[in-house]
Amino acid sequence: AVPSLCGVALKHISLVTLAIQNSMLTLIMHHSRVSIPPSCAYSAATAVLLNEVLKGLISFLIAYMRVDHSADPSQPAGLPWAQKARIPFVRLRKLSRDIFSPDCWKLSIPAILYVIQNNLQYVAASNLDAATFQVTYQMKILTTAGFSVLLLRRKLSSSQWLALLFLAIGVGIVQIQAGEARSVPTALAASADVHTMDALKGFLAVAAACFTSGLAGVYFEMVLKNSHADLWVRNVQLSLFSLLPALAPIIFSHASTPAPTGAWLLALFHNFGLWAWATVAVQVLGGLVTAMVIKYSDNILKGFATSLSIVISFLASVVLFRFKMTFTFVLGSGIVLVATWLYNQPPRRPVRGWPIPLQR
Ligand code: C5P
Repeated sequence: AVPSLCGVALKHISLVTLAIQNSMLTLIMHHSRVSIPPSCAYSAATAVLLNEVLKGLISFLIAYMRVDHSADPSQPAGLPWAQKARIPFVRLRKLSRDIFSPDCWKLSIPAILYVIQNNLQYVAASNLDAATFQVTYQMKILTTAGFSVLLLRRKLSSSQWLALLFLAIGVGIVQIQAGEARSVPTALAASADVHTMDALKGFLAVAAACFTSGLAGVYFEMVLKNSHADLWVRNVQLSLFSLLPALAPIIFSHASTPAPTGAWLLALFHNFGLWAWATVAVQVLGGLVTAMVIKYSDNILKGFATSLSIVISFLASVVLFRFKMTFTFVLGSGIVLVATWLYNQPPRRPVRGWPIPLQR
């Protein structure tokens, strides 16, 4: 089938938006965490919860608009004005039936994993400089490939396995640079109220986030491809299942330091300034654009968009954070970019599961 002009435009717009969003998120999140003293930091748990609530609401509105509201032919048609008045109820009824479908529980697994991942991102962004975080986070291509082979029984070509090896080497080289940088902030001592970065902690957080990203992404793909449910309905289900794990750290902190509910609610938004809101907004945009890329493009192009964002983040870090361009960083980033390109090359001989079929 020939893709519609609108579909082609949306595909390109969503890919470019994802590349810009990816680098914006890294930069804004990093700035929002490290530019302020720890005593003035906002709650990452609140940010993750807000992200899920806002993304869920927007997905709900989109899903609502997409519901087929044509009347049930078995029901009497009634007067035209009555038919019109009934539309919102018809839409809500059909939508709630779709959202609470018997298989909705399947989204609970990626939902929990994504909440963990979104929390880990804050730990990583607080402890690694923006460009190092961006490059190291590319390891998720490795975990995604691993889980695709394990869960989706996808076969990889030899050049893709080679690309994965290059990726690991590239990320390793970038880590050498992060290790060198580690000694600088810790020398500032912990007594002062200044943000200090712990590269090891940041790296462990990224490694764990890569694991959850790969598993959640592949699981989400499995759920999408094995059913006919609308992508936006799946997004609403994902957000609904995210609410409980996103609320859990907030409830625990309330239990450990009891306070009147009003004061506690206010404390949730303590220090929640412009940069915190900007981080949440860019994250919400990311969730929605990821869904659009899955719908209008495919995972191959998603990989390209993400690798493009490394270059954007890197150049912006040099300008904004006076990030020093060391030889090891350029070499490591270059290898990561070449590996990403190599991984996305179509194989000469057909390989089972390649190209990745377009998602709904
Ligand atoms: O880095 P990665 O591609 O794994 O990031 C996915 C991000 O997009 C996560 O923050 C996740 O919460 C979000 N997402 C979403 N809706 C989807 C898939 C992912 O909001 N359907």
